[in-house]
Amino acid sequence: MKTIRGSRLLKKAAIWLAVTATVVVTAAAGAATWLYTSADVSTVGKASFDNRLAIPPLAGSRVEKDGTRVFDLRMQSGATEFRPGQQTPTWGFNGAYLGPTLRAERGEKVRVDIRNTLDEPSTVHWHGMHLPARMDGGPHQMIDPGGSWSPRWTVDQPAATLWYHPHPHGQTEEHVQRGLAGMFILDDDKAAGLDLPAEYGVNDVPVIVQDTQFDGDRFDHGHRIMENTGFLGDRTMVNGTLTPYHRVGDELVRLRLLNASTARVYNFGFADDRSFSLIGTDGGLLEAPYATDRLKLSPGERAEIVVRAEPGERVMLRGYPVGDGDFWNQRFSGGDDSFDVLQLRAADTLRPSAALPARLVAPETPDGSDAVRDRHFDLRMSGINGEPMRMDRIDATVTRGTTEVWTVRNEDGMPHNFHVHDVQFRVLEVNGEQPPPPLRGPKDTVYVPSGTTMRLALRFDGPADPDVPYMYHCHLLYHEDGGMMGQFVVVEPGQRAGAVRGGH
Ligand code: C2O
Ligand code: CU
Ligand code: CU
Repeated sequence: MKTIRGSRLLKKAAIWLAVTATVVVTAAAGAATWLYTSADVSTVGKASFDNRLAIPPLAGSRVEKDGTRVFDLRMQSGATEFRPGQQTPTWGFNGAYLGPTLRAERGEKVRVDIRNTLDEPSTVHWHGMHLPARMDGGPHQMIDPGGSWSPRWTVDQPAATLWYHPHPHGQTEEHVQRGLAGMFILDDDKAAGLDLPAEYGVNDVPVIVQDTQFDGDRFDHGHRIMENTGFLGDRTMVNGTLTPYHRVGDELVRLRLLNASTARVYNFGFADDRSFSLIGTDGGLLEAPYATDRLKLSPGERAEIVVRAEPGERVMLRGYPVGDGDFWNQRFSGGDDSFDVLQLRAADTLRPSAALPARLVAPETPDGSDAVRDRHFDLRMSGINGEPMRMDRIDATVTRGTTEVWTVRNEDGMPHNFHVHDVQFRVLEVNGEQPPPPLRGPKDTVYVPSGTTMRLALRFDGPADPDVPYMYHCHLLYHEDGGMMGQFVVVEPGQRAGAVRGGH
């Protein structure tokens, strides 16, 4: 009796368990399907682009007696009307959103007098700039609310499209999203001697691309479920302008593309798949223009492209699906998304442009042949080489004047990228092969999709400072904030790293 009743009970329990399990599995599958199918975004063809593209003003400057060019930057809060009648609280430099374009020449001494009028501490980092570590604006150079900071250095690198943004440890994503970012253009004689479109805001146009999302009149920068690469917005803007167009009056227009989004990778191209010329990467011009119809840029990367316009036409700059990674990760890292980004409206008659020069500039990045040391960096969301960032730990000590080869590997199943402060490096290899042309120019940030190993050659020309570190990190800012960052110091031969303090 007992055993029969017992087995009936067991049977009942087994049926109940099976039913419950089926329900749970079905619900999970349903939720996963719903999550999957609702996770991709496209703005292609959905809106007319009728807002005139804002051009960040060129920052005014003065030159002091000793030849130092001085800029003023004020970090401030304000409100921005992205959409008619709706004021969104934002931050900016010398204005409510983004900042002016700073511009200086190779060889020039510069100083930037920065005042922080926000009620939070922050920093200003010069992304891509070769400068002393204590001028770098990383997490060790905090500017208190009401405080000021005046970094100075001598520009000593080729003409390039660089940028500046805050770098407070753990809050970079938020501070950049609120609007603190701007371009820093460097000029030199070699670039000036080339016949390239160079009229700022006319045929030489800053294109600062950010994705965003609104909730009423506020930004909604919350992370959705499964978005483990960080915030992904449902629309893009350029220079703070939603659905922007730019009037083109020349046959050739140069776009200085900056991916200032915090997590999103773009695969840029034009709506009619026309080819365009890539002329420059993060740290300056290529040896020769490279014709292509697609160009991927991960957060923090820049590219200078030149595109030919036909009289009277309208053509859209688009972000096409990136398509790296397995179908699941690709979907939840924005890899299936597509965006209309910027419409170019050509005048009925266009000013003739000179043909692009066949040769641009000779590379100044090291080729790795004189490397004195190899290092390895395993990119994981949980920390580089398994170590989450610590402000008081130096991860690498490099000797001034030497070249190193850094091997960067992503086996993490999700996209990452890799940015190194102070230097422009050369990509030697991608998965054992020669890098494709877009990765042959000077770089300070590289996109490293999952399953990729890259070898980079970096030369550290100093100056040495054993006490103040530079950073290297993933520029998906949610990852950086979460600790996907490390610190290196540059020292004189035989010198040891100093002790760095934890806080600021
Ligand atoms: Cu654009 Cu360490 O930053
Ligand atoms: Cu940087
Ligand atoms: Cu990352």
